[in-house]
Parts: sequence; structure tokens; C-alpha cells
Amino acid sequence: MRQVADLIGAVFADEIDADGRSVLQEMQTVGRISPFLGGLMSSGFLGDFVGGFVWIEGDRVLGNVTLQRVDFGGTRWRISNVAVVPAYRGRGIARALMLSSLSEIAHQGGGWAVLQVRVDNPPAKRLYESLGFTDVCQEGIWKLSSLPDRLPALATDAPLQPLPALAWRSRFELAQAAQSQLARWLAPVEASQYQVGLLQGLGEAIGNWTGFYRVQRWGSYEDGILMGAVETAASLTGDAHRLRLLVRPTGYGLIEGPLVAQGLRALAGSPPAPVVAEHSGDHAEGVAALEAAGFLPRRVLLSMRRPIVPADELL
Ligand SMILES: CC(C)(COP(=O)(O)OP(=O)(O)OC[C@H]1O[C@@H](n2cnc3c(N)ncnc32)[C@H](O)[C@@H]1OP(=O)(O)O)[C@@H](O)C(=O)NCCC(=O)NCCS
Repeated sequence: MRQVADLIGAVFADEIDADGRSVLQEMQTVGRISPFLGGLMSSGFLGDFVGGFVWIEGDRVLGNVTLQRVDFGGTRWRISNVAVVPAYRGRGIARALMLSSLSEIAHQGGGWAVLQVRVDNPPAKRLYESLGFTDVCQEGIWKLSSLPDRLPALATDAPLQPLPALAWRSRFELAQAAQSQLARWLAPVEASQYQVGLLQGLGEAIGNWTGFYRVQRWGSYEDGILMGAVETAASLTGDAHRLRLLVRPTGYGLIEGPLVAQGLRALAGSPPAPVVAEHSGDHAEGVAALEAAGFLPRRVLLSMRRPIVPADELL
């Protein structure tokens, strides 16, 4: 267990988020306290941690693949933590671990294997493609290191208007329309991600009025339909400011630039801090608008899937 945690920690040092770090610490602790307990004994993630496969030579763990059922009662399984010790790469270890994983999913009656890979990781992507995985969608983080010194200009032919906090349904409906069918298959947009209740609306109004908490939403309508929107949340604590851009596919290429410019204008005057935008990597015009404004991709993840067939049990 500890060796697996050490391998994952070393290979994915740059990428592990806060959640991943606590899981790793836990694996390391469990490994230290009781090297004999094995993978399934870790208390904190007993709920959804199922197991996986390791490649062992001598007493060294040289490779790992983690397997988790995505949802109880569902048929999707997530493959993650695919890692091989650098000196042992290129010898077929990852392929063997992946084949065992697919076989195990079939054995458990699973219907799909899903995973995520960074778009800037061609070796891993090639491995998954060679096993029959296909693209689902891309989600990523783009980061602007600091707020621009000068306010970005706004195009006059794309009139934007402030969106009331409580009119969240139209933003939710826009987010649903902006999501591809495949992305919806993976994780449909939830109303709760957009819902603004009375209390939050009041909090935002007071925050905006006092300048302590500044959330702004701007959008562009065409024939009464919200075509695109940008939401910004200014941080007063030194954390990154946030920007979220949404565009209806029929409006692609028309309003992304003005929306990003409006978002940055909304953040102007906030304390110096980077701006983080979470965005769909499949919306090329949105990515182009962010990058034209100086945002750089930080971590863009491609989700992939593969159907499981009964014959996979024999892999
Ligand atoms: C990706 C990784 C797991 C591959 O492990 P590996 O044991 O070297 O892979 P294998 O030897 O089983 O190779 C399987 C396939 O992967 C692809 N592949 C592996 N290394 C590659 C490389 N350097 N360049 C291109 N393709 C490569 C090939 O398609 C290969 O099949 P082939 O040998 O028939 O051409 C390993 O490089 C690694 O641990 N990388 C760092 C962690 C990581 O990126 N994990 C994936 C996270 S999504």
C-alpha cells in the first residue's frame, strides 16, 4: 500500500489536488501502520475505493492501476492512477495492468470504463486509444497570471447586459445547451451548480454594495434567448479570482471575445491575484478568446470511455 502511494505520489507530484493528497497520505499511513492490511482496508475511502492492480517484481511495486465503481448500482468504472516506475516503462507493464482492469470490470458486470488523461500526455493517450478508448469531452483550467493593467475594450456590436443573480434558470438552461451530448453522458450539468437562492442573492447584493464580495454576471440575449454569459467572482483574500464563460453552440465564434473582456472589466480594481477560468476544452472559440486575453492552459483533461463486452473477461 505504501509503495503504491509512493509511486503515485512521485509520478503525479505536480497534479494531485487537495483531495488526492489526503487519500495518498492515508494510503501511506495505512501502509506504514500495517503493511499487511492490503488495499481495501483504508477507512476513509472504503465507500468507493475498490482496488486495482499492481505490477510487482521482487518486492518492488513497479506499476499501478486503480479501479473504482463510479456510482453504486451503476455500471461505470473509473480507471485512474495509471503509473509505471520510469526505469521500467516501455516494457508493456501499463498495457498488462490495463487489460487486467478491463477484464475485472467485465467480471464485475460493468458496462463502461472511463478515465481522464491530460491532453499533453500523448504516450498515455496512445495507450488508451490502442485499447479502444474514445474521446468524451475536455475540461480544463486556464489561468491569467494577473489582472490586465488596462481595461480590455468592449466591442459595440455585442451588447452585454448584467444578469440578475436570481434569474439563474436561464444560466442553467444555457449551461445545459452548451454541454455536448457526450459530456452530458459523463456528468450532466446540475441545477445546484447555478441555483442562487434568496439568501445567496441577498449576500451577493450586500457584497457587491460594500465591495467585500463581488460576483458579477453578464450576458448577451438574442430574441429573448440567453446566448452567452460570463460570471466572475473577485477574491479579496489573495486567492485566485474566478471567471466562468458559457456560450450556446449556435453563438460560437460571435461573443466569446466580448464576454471575456467584460469578465475582466468586472474584475478590474480587485486585489492583485491570478484569474482562473474553468472551461470546456471542446469549445475552441472560447479557448481562443481566453488565450487571446492572455490566459494559458494549466491542466486540460480529456475524458475517455470504452464499452465493456463480456469477452473482455478473457483479456
Ligand atoms: C503512460 C505510462 C503509464 C505507460 O506505461 P508503460 O508501461 O511504459 O506502457 P507500455 O509499455 O505498456 O506501453 C503501452 C502503450 O503505451 C503507449 N506508449 C507508452 N510509452 C510511450 C511513449 N513514450 N511514446 C508513445 N507511446 C507510448 C504505446 O501505445 C504503447 O504500446 P506499444 O508499445 O504497443 O506501442 C507511463 O509512461 C507512465 O507511468 N507515465 C507517467 C504517468 C502517466 O502519465 N500516467 C497516465 C495518467 S492518465
